[in-house]
Amino acid sequence: MANHIIINNKIKSFKKIIKVSSDKSISIRSILIASQAVGISKISNLLESEDVLNSLKTIEKLGINYKKKNGSYYIYGFGLNGFDIKKNTTINAGNSGTLARLILGLLVKSKLKVKLIGDKSLSKRDFSRVITPLKLFGVNIKSKNNFLPIEIIGSDYLRPIKYDERIGSAQVKSCVILSALNTPGTTIINSKKSRDHTELMLKFLKYPIQVQKKISSERILIEGLKQFKAFEYEVPGDISSAAFFIVLTLLSKNSQITIQNININQSRIGIIRILNRMGANIKLKNKKIYNGEAIADIFVKSKLNLKSVDCPAKLNSSAIDEFLIIFLVASKAKGISKFKDLGEMNKKESKRLDLGIKFLKLIGIKVERFQNDIKIYGNPNLKLSKEFEIKNFLKDHRIFFLSCIAALTLGGKWKINDKQSANTSFPNFLKLLKIVGAKIN
Ligand code: S3P
Repeated sequence: MANHIIINNKIKSFKKIIKVSSDKSISIRSILIASQAVGISKISNLLESEDVLNSLKTIEKLGINYKKKNGSYYIYGFGLNGFDIKKNTTINAGNSGTLARLILGLLVKSKLKVKLIGDKSLSKRDFSRVITPLKLFGVNIKSKNNFLPIEIIGSDYLRPIKYDERIGSAQVKSCVILSALNTPGTTIINSKKSRDHTELMLKFLKYPIQVQKKISSERILIEGLKQFKAFEYEVPGDISSAAFFIVLTLLSKNSQITIQNININQSRIGIIRILNRMGANIKLKNKKIYNGEAIADIFVKSKLNLKSVDCPAKLNSSAIDEFLIIFLVASKAKGISKFKDLGEMNKKESKRLDLGIKFLKLIGIKVERFQNDIKIYGNPNLKLSKEFEIKNFLKDHRIFFLSCIAALTLGGKWKINDKQSANTSFPNFLKLLKIVGAKIN
């Protein structure tokens, strides 16, 4: 089957109510945390994407059974460190940084050596950010220059740590929190703010974790060695997937969309804050709290006359996976948009800051870069008619989605490669685009 798609037409006006894929961060956490619970957990509405399926395969390799019944996943946990690890176990995190970093936290007490590998993109990502705290706990960990493959053997003599997490990485913070579960005593993390799904899920399970919020950081205290019971959890929709439909609607004519049941955790909705600053007027309706997480329907209308934004760096972490699509909005906005301190974007599935700039230049947008700050010169009259081919973007799913939305809102004749990358996070993306009215071959 061809691994590319062709888009030759802009999308026509639409008015739709849709649901997007379930949240990837919460799906992965629900599996990993259920693997440590006592008893059978039931997870509904789990995202069935490659990153999440790799999480299921990973816990299975570590001796935790699961089965799917009537659309829900049942995970058979044996409590903390209840893994049954065989000799020469290798686990493959595929494309997922979240799975790779978080699973290391659950292996701090493993009796046998476990080898962690990943795909080409993950093998280029730096693991020093988790290797450093893991070593402080007393774990034995080997890698070549902090890249995959990594070999880890746990320890019976773990010690609680006090860790300053300065990157603002939820993967690092969560790796430390999960390591703390199996460590006697109280681990303390001073963390720059980042998504807090791990903390919220553990709180929902009544695990002894405390979060003391400060202005731009948090102090998290986790007591180790407390068992918790199996649970039921229904995963909400993913704002990072909704983001592409939000922008599709904003940049199309006379259109509107309601995206139902999306996780609107404050640490995730930077995109809504940024787009509203640009004049978007995105609304959150039917707000509710489910198991500690905030959920709502997102309502968006087309918007002509968007204006540029001077984006404060304090919003970066809450929009970290959405900047590519935010850049597209900045391209159509009036004025010069400014984004600062986006170095973390280059540490994702691809070097997204570099590639995002390459993409903007390809569609004729002027961009200036100074270190990790960029200025995007918006052009409200931007209309494309040329031919474009998107390839060699390291199979990054979010670059694939961005390209589709650009093609459907700006025009031009597009050949977009690496269609399969959508399976990483949003397998029904193209199907949903067609439901909304896109013509895609
Ligand atoms: C994630 C955290 C973010 C994000 C990634 C998912 C998570 O990475 O980019 O897609 O689920 O914890 P960092 O924590 O490294 O910033």
